[in-house]
Amino acid sequence: MISLFKDYLEERQDVSLISTDVGFATYKLVDNETVWLIDIFVDKDHRRKGIATQLSELVQIEAEKLGCTKMLGSVDITANGVTESMKAVLSNGFNFSYANGNILYFVKEI
Ligand SMILES: CC(C)(COP(=O)(O)OP(=O)(O)OC[C@H]1O[C@@H](n2cnc3c(N)ncnc32)[C@H](O)[C@@H]1OP(=O)(O)O)[C@@H](O)C(=O)NCCC(=O)NCCS
Repeated sequence: MISLFKDYLEERQDVSLISTDVGFATYKLVDNETVWLIDIFVDKDHRRKGIATQLSELVQIEAEKLGCTKMLGSVDITANGVTESMKAVLSNGFNFSYANGNILYFVKEI
C-alpha cells in the first residue's frame, strides 16, 4: 500500500517519500538549490526517540546528492499540534524564513 502511495506521489506531484515502519517524510525539489521537506510523521508510540531527526537527515542526504544547498521546512498553523511541529522543525536546524497565509516556512542551509 505504501509503495502504491509512493508511486502516486511521484507520478502526480513529483513528491518523494521515505518511510520506515514507524514514520515517513515527504519531500520535493523546488528549485536547483532547494529541497522542500513537505511533511514528517512519526507514530505516536515512537515519538521523542529521534526518528523525525533521522528522517530529516535522510532527506538531507538526498538533497545533497541533488546538489542542493538549502532545505525548506513548513508548518501549517491551522494543523493540530502546531507547537510541537515548530519545536521539531527548529530543533532540526531550521530557522524561520517567511509566512505565506497559514503556512510558516523555515530554511536550513546544508
Ligand atoms: C513532530 C514529529 C514529526 C516529531 O517526531 P519525533 O520523532 O518525535 O521527533 P524527534 O524525536 O526527532 O525530536 C527531535 C527534537 O525535536 C523537538 N521535539 C519533537 N517533538 C517535540 C514535542 N512534542 N515537544 C517538544 N519538543 C519536541 C525536541 O527538541 C526533540 O529532541 P529531544 O527529544 O532530544 O528533546 C512528530 O511529533 C509527529 O509526527 N507529529 C505529527 C505530525 C507533525 O507535526 N509533523 C511535522 C510537520 S512540520
